Amino acid sequence: MTGATGFIGSRLVRELARRGYEVVVFSRNPTRARGEVSGAADYVAWEPTERGAWVSAVEGAYAVVNLAGASVGGKRWNDRYKREIANSRTVGTRGLVNAMTVAKARPSVLLSMSVIGYYGHRDATPLDESAPPGDDFLARVGVAWEQEARKAEALGVRVFLPRTGIVLGAAGGALSLMALPARLFIGGPILPGSQYVSWIHLADEIAILAQGLEDARFAGPINATAPNPVTNREFNAALGRALGRPSWAPVPGVAVKAVVGEFAESVITGQRVIPRRLLELGYAFKFPTLDAALGDIYGPWRDPSGVAP
Ligand SMILES: NC(=O)c1ccc[n+]([C@@H]2O[C@H](COP(=O)([O-])OP(=O)(O)OC[C@H]3O[C@@H](n4cnc5c(N)ncnc54)[C@H](OP(=O)(O)O)[C@@H]3O)[C@@H](O)[C@H]2O)c1
Repeated sequence: MTGATGFIGSRLVRELARRGYEVVVFSRNPTRARGEVSGAADYVAWEPTERGAWVSAVEGAYAVVNLAGASVGGKRWNDRYKREIANSRTVGTRGLVNAMTVAKARPSVLLSMSVIGYYGHRDATPLDESAPPGDDFLARVGVAWEQEARKAEALGVRVFLPRTGIVLGAAGGALSLMALPARLFIGGPILPGSQYVSWIHLADEIAILAQGLEDARFAGPINATAPNPVTNREFNAALGRALGRPSWAPVPGVAVKAVVGEFAESVITGQRVIPRRLLELGYAFKFPTLDAALGDIYGPWRDPSGVAP
């Protein structure tokens, strides 16, 4: 598993170990990874551009899980960082598929992360998996990332591409940043406020990724978002309720753009994504509504500061 040290990956390692899998963590820094991620069978050095010892871990593995990628919201974008966002996904995925190509015993499945950013900046039109991609920077990265992964289909490998929405969990991820203004009593919608936020609770994300490894019906792109996306205004109101804070201070989109730069376009627009394939497959969401998800994350048994144990 690449990206195993991340917000999603570290929880997925734990869940797969619980299910009896031996997980080999691929990390650019395996020593750090060993300290950060518990439950793995081994930790190997992984440099996407180099054919290192990690190649032998691909040989004979049941599955390859590919989550690695430079954070899209963590830094202000410049041309160099945009190249890193793109290359950390496409070059890494290409390396994994090349390793599968030369393997004598190929994995049965490649789970390669994808993103709802694939659909680009959209209005309120509901989007299922048949919707065409957008053509902004993140959409182009999403398209190229999926294309690299799908090359494994020609090898007879099942390729599962979970197009994931904003993952909400207690410690880390986007929610920590989104909740910060509300915690400081300056929460409110990002204008226009009518743009959609397509979210998913971390517990559902992990359950969907794990099921997708085991269930042969999970093939191709599958939207991994809750069935009830909300507008940015509704999202901030729900966040205020969950944190017991007011949500009254609207933030103009231009102000967000001035602070975070080009990435702000994704926040000012957004997408209304519908998990049509998951619903057809009968996946039962643990947290189908935002109030249920936030109630679980910020419930009374948690630290009231919003910082999870
Ligand atoms: N969190 C979300 O809301 C969300 C939503 C949709 C899609 N996704 C996607 O799902 C994946 C995992 O998300 P996450 O939130 O768990 O991410 P994360 O916490 O930022 O972790 C990403 C992992 O990727 C590796 N990585 C970071 N920068 C890299 C670079 N420049 N080159 C190669 N590898 C790099 C790191 O592993 P090492 O340092 O150990 O190598 C890191 O642990 C990402 O690709 C992300 O885009 C996340």
